[in-house]
This record gives sequence, C-alpha cells and structure tokens, in this order.
Amino acid sequence: MAGLTPKRIVVLASGRGSNFAAIADAITNGQIPEAQIAALISNKPQAPVLELAQSRGIPVIVLESKAFRKENRFDRISYEKDLLNCLRALKPDLICLAGYLLLLGKEIIQTFPGKIINIHPSLLPLFKGLHSQKQAIVSGAKETGCTVHFVTESLDEGPIILQNRITILENETEESLISRLLPVEHATYIEALKRLCSN
Ligand code: GRF
Repeated sequence: MAGLTPKRIVVLASGRGSNFAAIADAITNGQIPEAQIAALISNKPQAPVLELAQSRGIPVIVLESKAFRKENRFDRISYEKDLLNCLRALKPDLICLAGYLLLLGKEIIQTFPGKIINIHPSLLPLFKGLHSQKQAIVSGAKETGCTVHFVTESLDEGPIILQNRITILENETEESLISRLLPVEHATYIEALKRLCSN
C-alpha cells in the first residue's frame, strides 16, 4: 500500500545474476511496489552479478569466501560470523538467495526465521542439489520447473512458496533447458516476492 515503508530485501548471489537483475528491474518498474533492494552481497569478487548491481546503483558488499581459506580449509565459522554481522547491519525484511553457492549456517538461519528464501531450478522435492536441470532430463521426466521456498537448515527443503512448470522437450539438452527455464525462474521469483511483500 502506498505510504508504507518498503520491505528491505538483501540479495545473496555468487554468479551470473539473472535472477537478481530480474528482481531489481521488477522493483524499478513498479511490479513489486512494496520492496526495495538494500544491498547485494556476493562471496565472489569477480561475479558478473556485481556489475549488474553497480550499474543499477544498488549497494554492493563483497565478502570473499576464498579469503577465509586457511591451510586449505574453509573457515566457515569466521565467514558466517562476518556474514551475520553484515546481514544484521542491513536490517533485512527478506534475504533472497539467487544463485548463492554457499550453504547458510544454522546461526544465520535462526537469526532470520521465515525471512530467507531461495530459488531452485526444479520442482522440489525433486532434483535437489546441483545440476537439477540435467537430473530432470536424465530421469526421463516429462516436465520440470522451479521452486521458490523458505530456507531451512536442510538443503533445498523448507516450505514451498511458489512453483512453476515447463515441459521437457524431445532432444532437450541441459543448456536448452537451463535457458528456457531461466525466464520462468525470473517470473516466479518476482511473483513470490510480490506476494511476500504485500502482506
Ligand atoms: C538459477 O538457476 C537458480 O535457480 C539457481 O542458481 C541459478 C542462478 O542463476 N539457484 P542466476 O545467477 O540468477 O542467473
């Protein structure tokens, strides 16, 4: 409703950033009137998503996960501590994972109950984990899709907010399915945010 303070969204992304850009542009175009992106956080200093945020005037925070490698081991505890501090300071109403390639730890998840959401390129609970589009093709499924869901401590689980489906074509390749599914992901994420931000 006009006049209300927009919900503060923080996006976490590690790579290409097409979902991030779709969300940011939907907000700019007035499709999600009750939202604003407070910041983009990435764990990768070379991620293309950073440029997409900067060119849209969205504040960017890089918390390089590689810098937390000590003697060839990822110091997850220190990384999560810094990420948690960063998130707390941003006072998010919603944290959106959009191709964020690290798992979030228990403390972060428990600090923001019901406020962290993710998009996954399959019809969960099917095809969890990596290469979901390839998993769908290999399984012989006739359709697949994407899922926006709340994030819990179990990978790719948590209550489902919204799903959309597409048919898997004959002779479908992983690449063709990824590229046909992406616009569906964008629309699904935008619709899920519209619903979450309006109540
Ligand atoms: C998307 O397929 C999303 O479902 C998955 O990671 C990919 C991120 O793509 N979690 P992009 O960086 O948003 O283009």
